[in-house]
Amino acid sequence: MERVSDSSGSQRLTTDLPEVGPWAREKLDALARYLDFYTKVLKNQPWRTLYLDAYAGGGRAVLRTGDRPPSTGAELFSDAPPIDTEARELIDGSPRVALGVTYPFDRYILVDSDPDRVAELQALKAEYGDQRTINVLKATAAEGVHWVTNQPISRKTHRGVAFLDPFGANLDWASVQKLAETGLFEVVVNFALSMAIQRMLPNSGDVPEAWANALDAYFGDHTWFDAVYEHGGGLFGGSSIEKRADYSERLLALYRSKLRAAFGHVSTPRLIRNTRGAPLYYLIWAGPNKKGLEGADYILTMGERIGRRTGETKRGG
Ligand SMILES: C[S@@+](CC[C@H](N)C(=O)[O-])C[C@H]1O[C@@H](n2cnc3c(N)ncnc32)[C@H](O)[C@@H]1O
Repeated sequence: MERVSDSSGSQRLTTDLPEVGPWAREKLDALARYLDFYTKVLKNQPWRTLYLDAYAGGGRAVLRTGDRPPSTGAELFSDAPPIDTEARELIDGSPRVALGVTYPFDRYILVDSDPDRVAELQALKAEYGDQRTINVLKATAAEGVHWVTNQPISRKTHRGVAFLDPFGANLDWASVQKLAETGLFEVVVNFALSMAIQRMLPNSGDVPEAWANALDAYFGDHTWFDAVYEHGGGLFGGSSIEKRADYSERLLALYRSKLRAAFGHVSTPRLIRNTRGAPLYYLIWAGPNKKGLEGADYILTMGERIGRRTGETKRGG
């Protein structure tokens, strides 16, 4: 068990809080800037505003300062150096980031499938009392999207942002499509290319059925397969499956083209890297509005521009 200071200096036990890598801060900073921009632009408009966090987490996490993977417990039985020598701090997760914007959303819908995270979200809701309207749902993201899109909302009366931040390729295209069809939602998606999707694509092209089904659901069809693999000339005139050299770029382009077709506009992707500079995932914005696109393009590339100006590499942290 460990005690960590939060921003108010108070101490709490963090045994049950999830650990996140230092790059999470970059993701959350980009989200905060976008939500600030969005709520400022809409503050004098007649629409009711919605924030949907479909993979909300509990609202706080412990930030690791290195690239070490989350503890598995196995280190207790090894002679590896102790893991808790790193400085760690609490950071606000996406629900708190969204609740903290200067011009709050009219309604927050916070969804997570994990009961511990949901209990933390309920405590967060209680913290805000009457100051914010918050729905906490213990549900899958797909159920959360279904719930929201079946509320009495319309483009005439509402606007909203959905943050889609799954672990890996655990986001059904059908849910993204449903949000697009409302005509009122913009999305910020974590496209987990290097963290998850690349790992589901063996060089042989022999993708295990469960992974292929997951990728079909993620992309909404089987087009990912041809983006990744091609038929090469096999030995003795036969043909073999080969992985394309540029398959990562093709998958990113495929997903962006689907987002553009569904929503109308899609941003330049923002690559999030680990502290050694290795790619992890992309943040991609999509929405029905050109002004949103301009804001998202500006904001999502901001960290990279600052990095270039100061001569740093594009690193998380
Ligand atoms: C990457 S974390 C979210 C982090 C959070 N968005 C933040 O930035 O602070 C993913 C969360 O999704 C939850 N989760 C996993 N599968 C889910 C599903 N199918 N539907 C909804 N939540 C899910 C996990 O419990 C976890 O809290």
